[in-house]
Amino acid sequence: MAETRWSVPLSDVLVDDELLETARRTLQSGWWSMGPRVEEFERAFSEFCGVRHALAVSNGTAALHLALLACGCGPGDEVVLPSLNFVAAANSIANTGAQPVFCDIRGSHDLNLDPDDVESVITPRTKALLVLHYGGHPCDMERILQIAADRGLLVIEDAAHAPGATWRGRACGTLGSVGCFSFFSNKNLPIGEGGAVVTNDDEIADRLRLLRSHGMTTLTWDRHRGHAHTYDVVAQGLNYRMDELRAALGLVQLGRLPAANLQRARHVARYRSLLDGQAGALVPFDGDSENSSAHHLAVVILPRATPRDAVREALREKGIQTSVHYPPIHRFSLYARAATSRPLPRTQDIAERLVTLPLFPHMTDDQVDRVAAGILDALPARGRSRTPAKTMRVAAHSLEESPPDLVASPAENLPK
Ligand SMILES: Cc1ncc(COP(=O)(O)O)c(C=O)c1O
Repeated sequence: MAETRWSVPLSDVLVDDELLETARRTLQSGWWSMGPRVEEFERAFSEFCGVRHALAVSNGTAALHLALLACGCGPGDEVVLPSLNFVAAANSIANTGAQPVFCDIRGSHDLNLDPDDVESVITPRTKALLVLHYGGHPCDMERILQIAADRGLLVIEDAAHAPGATWRGRACGTLGSVGCFSFFSNKNLPIGEGGAVVTNDDEIADRLRLLRSHGMTTLTWDRHRGHAHTYDVVAQGLNYRMDELRAALGLVQLGRLPAANLQRARHVARYRSLLDGQAGALVPFDGDSENSSAHHLAVVILPRATPRDAVREALREKGIQTSVHYPPIHRFSLYARAATSRPLPRTQDIAERLVTLPLFPHMTDDQVDRVAAGILDALPARGRSRTPAKTMRVAAHSLEESPPDLVASPAENLPK
């Protein structure tokens, strides 16, 4: 476990001899900037995803920015994305000069974007759909790919939560034009700071490669090996390269990813059995048997009008760290002022009620149980439910999604 003041931190990395030895050997090699380990990591990651090209980059935000640039997004373009998302996606769009246009989510059972709402905001200026697989759960790619094909749009996947997740057997991140991954410390494949862009499109791959390193036609590593002696600059690029240390750690972590994702799935199932339908709480994303999730996040949705801060404070007092994924981007001062700003009722409703619970592969069952008990103890309706969790869950979801005249607060059902 990493040093922490929490008895149950939100996320955690395991530091063991294999990682320490890997770091020692990499440092001893004397080549620290992008080189053979990055190439090896890229080969391994592209094989893992089943995709032609994988480029390692310095972080997930860099991956998003590069993907948007390589797809030609720029001033005058609009890019549609869910507001229930990390701000990196919107900032990356804005940093190309394009305009982010936010869409709503489906509701409390599915926190991914709503394809109907995506369709409703498409204009002649729309260039791309930047979709998120929230928490590692594949979004409705059938509808998204169809909308994109019908309207001639590019699809870029923010797969920061989704390494190892699959949609109809294909890896998330490989379903659109470009997929973007983050390897930040709290992600499923943690290396500190890092990311990757993947694509099956050779031309996009060439552009990504150039833009990643100043638009230069050769790399320092190529010149060191004697493969090149000079370079030209053919694009206005950036320095979004990964270094050898992180690539070496990434190779180890990639080998551990499938087992780590299974552990995450097990913990989420335990949370679900303890919390879903209890005292009005909901655990979203149940019952998608066709696709597999990377289970990056464990999220619980509290009943409406629950004082969320008080619930989180009660957990904090027990040493349990929680978070909120996410404060919706369209409500941040910067983006609330945008010309395309509009209300997103389901995003707003859910974002005020969700709590992200601790989740990391080496969590113990006892830790999961303590977190779940902490949530239930803090809920005002605790004790009202006498029904087993599974039965209550179905009842709770159908109540949530009922027509407005059947529910006390109709925010889920407001017309778009
Ligand atoms: C959904 C999502 N997209 C993008 C990013 C950006 O990744 P990074 O922190 O590696 O820049 C994150 C990271 O938190 C994320 O959660």
